[in-house]
Amino acid sequence: MIMYEGTPKIETKRLTLRRLEHIDAQSVYDNWISDERVTDNRINAAHKSISETVERLVKIVSGYDSKDFCYWGVELKSCGELIGEIDLYNFDSSTGNCEVSYSIGYKWWKQGYGTEALRAVVDYGFRYMNIHKISAAHNTDNPASGKIMSKVGMVQEGIIKHMIRNSKNQYKDCAIWGILQEDYLKNNDNGQPYMTIKD
Ligand SMILES: CC(C)(COP(=O)(O)OP(=O)(O)OC[C@H]1O[C@@H](n2cnc3c(N)ncnc32)[C@H](O)[C@@H]1OP(=O)(O)O)[C@@H](O)C(=O)NCCC(=O)NCCS
Repeated sequence: MIMYEGTPKIETKRLTLRRLEHIDAQSVYDNWISDERVTDNRINAAHKSISETVERLVKIVSGYDSKDFCYWGVELKSCGELIGEIDLYNFDSSTGNCEVSYSIGYKWWKQGYGTEALRAVVDYGFRYMNIHKISAAHNTDNPASGKIMSKVGMVQEGIIKHMIRNSKNQYKDCAIWGILQEDYLKNNDNGQPYMTIKD
């Protein structure tokens, strides 16, 4: 059974994963959600005005009222800058499974932050929420996303042709990845969680 604890603050070596707030709208807009280099790899289109971001944050912040809402902003510990977001979603009570998705602002790509955030959330999901399996899909023309999944131990299970149609009306083939709790814990069985819960 999944044990929901909402969205606790989580720390890794370089990152704080924390709840988003209304006052984050400008950073979210500037740092990733208005940038097509980031959003072209997601389903929803880049925001054209900050009012879209404000509206989205209203939904996210109200989501925190539910224990089964797990949505983190990714902040750099060194300077407090908000550089991305990551969430666990689509919880299925009959299987104990869920999915993960994430975005990191372009300016911070290829510095290991995506891997660090994904590993933290996978570690949290398996050790503290008792998730059975975590899955994700990425467009096959977005190999960086597959790379970080592979680095945290996820395994590619197949490719689904034309699985999505993006905001530019393009069909995309998607690679499906997943990892079982039992495999993750077996391979990370040093008794040390990768992340620390701060509240
Ligand atoms: C996917 C994403 C989160 C990765 O974030 P990141 O902070 O750059 O990730 P990391 O630095 O931890 O690792 C990226 C890895 O991908 C590799 N990579 C980057 N571009 C690549 C490419 N075109 N082909 C193959 N590998 C690539 C990097 O070399 C790195 O691997 P390495 O550490 O072995 O060198 C980021 O690119 C992103 O936000 N993309 C847009 C949104 C998105 O794709 N979300 C996921 C939707 S499923």
